[in-house]
Amino acid sequence: MSNEQSVPVTQVLAEASRRRTFAVISHPDAGKSTLTEALALHARAITSAGAVHAKGGRRGVTSDWMELERERGISVTSAALQFGHREHVMNLVDTPGHADFSEDTYRVLSAVDCAIMLIDAAKGLEEQTRKLFSVCRHRGVPVITFINKWDRRGRDALTLLEDIETHLGITPVPVVWPVGVAGNLRGLVEAADTEQFRRYTKVPAGTHAAIEELLTADEAAEQEGEDWTNALEELELVLSSGPGYDQEAFEAGKITPVFFGAALTNIGVKLLLDAVVDLAPAPAARPLANGGHREVAEEFSGVVFKIQANMDPAHRDRIAFVRVCSGVFERGMNVTRAASGRSLTTKYAHTVFGAERTVVETAYPGDVVGLINAAALRVGDTLFTGRKAEFPPLPAFAPEYFAVARPKDISRSKQFRRGVSQLDEEGVVQVLVSDRRGEQAPVMAAVGPMQFDVVLHRMEHEFSSPIHLDRLSYQLARKTNAEGAEALAKARLTDSEVLTRRSDQALLALFADKWHLNAFQRAKPEIYLEPLIATAD
Ligand code: G4P
Repeated sequence: MSNEQSVPVTQVLAEASRRRTFAVISHPDAGKSTLTEALALHARAITSAGAVHAKGGRRGVTSDWMELERERGISVTSAALQFGHREHVMNLVDTPGHADFSEDTYRVLSAVDCAIMLIDAAKGLEEQTRKLFSVCRHRGVPVITFINKWDRRGRDALTLLEDIETHLGITPVPVVWPVGVAGNLRGLVEAADTEQFRRYTKVPAGTHAAIEELLTADEAAEQEGEDWTNALEELELVLSSGPGYDQEAFEAGKITPVFFGAALTNIGVKLLLDAVVDLAPAPAARPLANGGHREVAEEFSGVVFKIQANMDPAHRDRIAFVRVCSGVFERGMNVTRAASGRSLTTKYAHTVFGAERTVVETAYPGDVVGLINAAALRVGDTLFTGRKAEFPPLPAFAPEYFAVARPKDISRSKQFRRGVSQLDEEGVVQVLVSDRRGEQAPVMAAVGPMQFDVVLHRMEHEFSSPIHLDRLSYQLARKTNAEGAEALAKARLTDSEVLTRRSDQALLALFADKWHLNAFQRAKPEIYLEPLIATAD
């Protein structure tokens, strides 16, 4: 394979194969920040404990850049944390914690090769976890399950696994099993080695890592009695009734390896990290929009999965996060933007984790690079050198909230239009337009209502064009075509209209509710109405 970059192909392949790029998906409060911190501390990426986010009075390095964020105490940024583990390079791509920023989170999932689904042992599967899981399924992202907070009272292990199987339609295959019920965790036993027991003892006063001891099976039986024998029986029961672990089935999303532990006291975290190295796939060839693949060893290509403006208010900058898909990224190289055929230079390339920025000189497949002030870039863009590459567009998710934006001060229409364009390019909301509504009254479509708060805030503070947002009564969107648009216009339904999405020119038919949609479909079954990617199961 020809490759004109300065780094030999063998090195690109070697670097790619030791990369693991993953995200943690969970419902808020399941412990994502705690787990991120624990994973990073294991790998010593962060030197002082509690450096991941600012919730609960902990010191934060992440994203305390935006006023809105500070007011609400939530994280709306997402970036990547890189750390080493067992000769591997781990790229943990952060996802926003709040459910209303789920559209961002969904896009992040297009940048990773694996996801850790984090479940609170007491709460089981929660709504946001299910939605995120359905996106993983849709994107073909393999999922490792970590059942967290086993140090606290919670559901029993067998019920939790049953829920996963029934509600997510994926077979859970335990890799470790808890000894002792939730709330009285004695330790863990590995399915592959039941001759050994990892016992954990809590350190008094809190949140410190529990002490781990290794015991033989005989010692475990003698000292833990029923807890040990019950654990082995349960494990045996689950393993004998299921298909067992199989790498192909995992990568195909048919099974999910399951781990138990407690992120807060570091129980089971190293086993999980080892699993990411051992089980999660390394970066692989990616399908291209027009057929064929971009092999990992080919020249550089990458996909913009997130654009974040204003991370540093002092500089008013804008960062495009690029996941490297093939070849080697070298800072300063000229890359081509597939959508326009124009080239851009990459002088300002950083890794970004919260407020921390480090200049990136070289990055390999799986790595995430933040390009600063790359104003021409949009979410979903492909960048490449050498042979042209264009990856399929990122999926657009079904919006459920709609509002008309109007400038409060019509003399600032230039600022208004600039702001709307920018928010559209970043994918903060989907912007829908029609001739009837005109340029000064675009419709903003969101997956979660908090996206609107971001729009209001940024239009006022960043683009100096405060706006009114008037909510529309639509709840459902379907893709349609010109014929559908005409039929809907003729039908003169009160609560429906067709708008054009600016980012891809798709025609979206909006309906007030399922009832209106069904009524129209019954009347006009021949009209094309395609659901967008729903994130509910
Ligand atoms: P999130 O990012 O998913 O929203 O969750 P986060 O890590 O902030 O954790 C939510 C709460 O759950 C925190 O408690 C955290 O300490 C607790 N937690 C996380 N993992 C474990 C665990 O393994 N065991 C136990 N017992 N608790 C866990 P908090 O009181 O809300 O916040 P804080 O004051 O401790 O920060």
